[in-house]
Amino acid sequence: MGWKTILTLALPFVSALTPSKGCTKTTAPAIASGNQTLTVNAKSRWYLLNPPKSYSAAVPHRLVFTLHAMGGNADQVRAGTGGYLPWYGFPALDVASEATNNTIYVSPNGLNAGWANTGGEDVTLITTIRSQILADYCVDEDLVFSVGFSYGASMSWALACGAPGLFRAVGLQSGGAMSGCAGGALKQPTAMYGQHGVDGDLNIASARGIRDQFVKMNGCAAPTGDEAVVLEKGSGTHKKVEYKGCQAGFPVTWIEYDGGHTPQPKDKGAAATWAGEEVWKFFAQFK
Ligand SMILES: *[C@@H]1O[C@H](CO)[C@@H](O)[C@H](O)[C@H]1NC(C)=O
Ligand SMILES: *[C@@H]1O[C@H](CO)[C@@H](O)[C@H](O)[C@H]1NC(C)=O
Repeated sequence: MGWKTILTLALPFVSALTPSKGCTKTTAPAIASGNQTLTVNAKSRWYLLNPPKSYSAAVPHRLVFTLHAMGGNADQVRAGTGGYLPWYGFPALDVASEATNNTIYVSPNGLNAGWANTGGEDVTLITTIRSQILADYCVDEDLVFSVGFSYGASMSWALACGAPGLFRAVGLQSGGAMSGCAGGALKQPTAMYGQHGVDGDLNIASARGIRDQFVKMNGCAAPTGDEAVVLEKGSGTHKKVEYKGCQAGFPVTWIEYDGGHTPQPKDKGAAATWAGEEVWKFFAQFK
């Protein structure tokens, strides 16, 4: 292995650490773990907050929004019911792979069990929660993420679009354009992880169109050779493409899988999903 390769492998995406206002607090956070309410656009809204048990204001944390799907709610994401793993399965991986526990999880609840984002009201909700948490907890402002399945993926896309620069990366699991995109297009580079089924999932052409906005904005090259070949139905597997040539710090990873609309796709014969691990790995590369 040449020194260049070693350097490339050894360097994570280093961001200039940007400690939030909460890092200067000398008192315990005012926003407690659990159910929190706030009013946005004259509507009462709520979210569930899950800071680490060992929270310390001396450590800048990651902040991860975990968004439910249509017909779901924030409590299912917390509890790991209704088809979700708890907080999208990340806390278990956080302990095993990183041994840091330096992540604060938030699960906001949508109106009418969805994320219609009428007039941008859900972007306002989530960016308001983000500001409140950054003021109260010690967060690295460059390490704020949003992940979701289905309508939750659509809403994560709406955040990348409607709140440029506020989210380091988004994780879109079987997403679409349902929550809209302020101004019609992505405005600045944002790292993106996406996954979508080739058999019975939502409109994959729309999901690929969203992916391609990130590919273009982040300056990645179109895949060539085997990476450009799309996955066949019936393969029983999944195919991961890590785009090349993207601007440093703004990678794009895209997985197509043989299957339909589920937050936890599995390869044929496999006991467990690969999804949580892949999204977590994508988010955890940012340090
Ligand atoms: C959180 O509080 C709101 C407002 O009181 C309530 O409507 C909602 O059901 C609560 N959620 C949970 C999971 O307790
Ligand atoms: C992380 O959390 C787990 C589970 O609560 C705990 O066993 C472990 O000691 C924690 N690790 C650190 C570094 O705080």
